[in-house]
Amino acid sequence: MKSLVVPRRDTHLPFALPDITDEEIRAVTAVLRSGWITTGPEVKAFEEEFARYIGVRHAVAVNSCTAALHLALEALGVGEGDEVLTSTVTFTATAEVAEYLGARSRFVDVERDTLNLSPDRVRDVIAREYARRDGAWRHRDTGGRLRAIVPVHYAGHPCDMHALLTIAAEYELKVVDDAAHALPASIEGRRIGALGCPTAFSFYATKTLTTAEGGMFCTDDEALAERVRLMSLHGISRDAWKRYAADGSWFYEVVEPGYKYNLTDIAGALGRVQLRRVEGMRDRRQAIAAAYDRGFASLPEVEVPRVREGIAHAWHLYPMRLCLDRLSIDRGRFMEELRRRQVGASVHFIPLHQQPFYSRRYGYRSNSFPVAEQEYPRLVSLPIYSRMSDEDVESVVAAIAEIVQEFRT
Ligand SMILES: Cc1ncc(COP(=O)(O)O)c(C=O)c1O
Repeated sequence: MKSLVVPRRDTHLPFALPDITDEEIRAVTAVLRSGWITTGPEVKAFEEEFARYIGVRHAVAVNSCTAALHLALEALGVGEGDEVLTSTVTFTATAEVAEYLGARSRFVDVERDTLNLSPDRVRDVIAREYARRDGAWRHRDTGGRLRAIVPVHYAGHPCDMHALLTIAAEYELKVVDDAAHALPASIEGRRIGALGCPTAFSFYATKTLTTAEGGMFCTDDEALAERVRLMSLHGISRDAWKRYAADGSWFYEVVEPGYKYNLTDIAGALGRVQLRRVEGMRDRRQAIAAAYDRGFASLPEVEVPRVREGIAHAWHLYPMRLCLDRLSIDRGRFMEELRRRQVGASVHFIPLHQQPFYSRRYGYRSNSFPVAEQEYPRLVSLPIYSRMSDEDVESVVAAIAEIVQEFRT
């Protein structure tokens, strides 16, 4: 048996690192040498390959998941006076896109095991706050029209989509899936992105598949895909990206005031190589999660992330929870102790209803989200990425075992 005594790290272990090989470097270099560096054939091929991988009819590449979420809501017609239900345990991008459109995010509490949007709480909120009026579900106080649910697959663990899609159908709501963390993830063998609702993925630098910055909008609905494509490039007519190419046309028409959200071919080429490696990178993340689970099994001060039956987890994050009643320190001090031991860590997420903008704008009272508020002070995201060695993983477990031993009550 391997010794549990692992020497202290003498170098800092970053919280996240991209997994870039010579193959990605060659692919990007080829684009740089080609004379065509922005949206072009690499992006087109990336979209086709991504759609095939997910098992969805249309994929539109954009320069972030935030852009994909914004375009998705816009294409569904969400606008002024509308309301969107989403989780409070998420990044601000999920909610800010509704604000861009003049809509309002109504936050909802999460399930204790996965920290995903709770279908039961969604039902409670709708029953308590909305009533059917003029053919729509309207907020009893604001009069805002309830239009959509935006589930977030927190850390890469899929939400209870069966329950959420059932509620959406019952109340005639659209669903836009925030799958920033969920590539590749699935529910009973069905990939996130292929569940029948428009889906937004992120290729930010810390994600399993990265293009530095980037995102993908996926849908089976051709009209929706066309709208997103149009609005992702200034609202100018079809194939506008080709207007400087040999086979393109100088003529274009502006049909809408769109956005500038297109992905570059540099990023597209990077994404194509990463997509070929995505399963391997996810498997490595899963092996790291399993090693953490084993490493913490004998530490009652640490609660490991739970995975439900029938789920394939993307393991974008490994959010462990501290049992604070067994420790004499709080999460802040715990993070500080990790940092002293050269281990990078983070917290996902400060609940959005506690952020100054949202608390000011919506006036949430404390204890409106009991699960999020109880779990947030216990959360610590540990490093989990494919470039971590077994020794890196062991050093994280050893650092945590040491902190826990020192500060257990
Ligand atoms: C849940 C969630 N949604 C959306 C985003 C936005 O992704 P991007 O940085 O690609 O815009 C993030 C960012 O990490 C996220 O965590």
